[in-house]
Amino acid sequence: MKGNLIVFEGVEGCGKTTQMQLCSQWLNSRGVSVVLTREPGGTELGKDLRRLLLEKSEDKPVSEITELLLYAADRAQHIEQEIKPSLAEGKYILCDRYTDSTIAYQGYGRGLDMSLIKQLNDIATGGLESDLTIWLDVDVEVGLARKKGQSKLDRIEAEKIDFHHRVQQGYTELAVNYPDRIVRVDGSLSQELVHKKIQEILIRNAPFGRASLT
Ligand code: TMP
Repeated sequence: MKGNLIVFEGVEGCGKTTQMQLCSQWLNSRGVSVVLTREPGGTELGKDLRRLLLEKSEDKPVSEITELLLYAADRAQHIEQEIKPSLAEGKYILCDRYTDSTIAYQGYGRGLDMSLIKQLNDIATGGLESDLTIWLDVDVEVGLARKKGQSKLDRIEAEKIDFHHRVQQGYTELAVNYPDRIVRVDGSLSQELVHKKIQEILIRNAPFGRASLT
């Protein structure tokens, strides 16, 4: 695979979407063409799965294992239809969430079996890991307050606060366990500073990729 897969992760309201936009504009201004995508919802099928996963409806409960399998299905489709072809063309992919989300949310958050999650992640991705994962670390309460100010909370955002704290714990442990792949950025800094830090990280890590960022 020739391209780069850069993933953005974090709890609700951590600022991923804004930072991915800024990062994409910055890369474009350096002549790097970027694919912006996300999980769930990076494909046409995935958009339907995203709706099913995030819609909050009392009449349509989603069991925990169903939730896990739907995220895995979304990922499998995304890998085949979007990620692999884009990497093969040498593209720079910025992806909003990937396998670490499943470990943090379904593993730490829901308490589902970690070896099953890892197995499903492997099946869905064929073992393809991100080249780099940027973890935007913000306090759960701060992130949720940002979300509440923006729109109605979806099914996962509306989970109890303890759930979100377990997810945060998941990211914290993932960052300790995979220091070569996951880089923490303090997401409580100003938008400009966070963007600057991400630029520095990408420039520093550019040798792992083919695109020259300097
Ligand atoms: P977001 O992409 O807008 O942040 O929303 C996606 C939601 O789905 C978010 O609450 C995290 C959740 N999620 C999981 O629970 N497991 C996963 O594997 C992924 C990719 C997302």
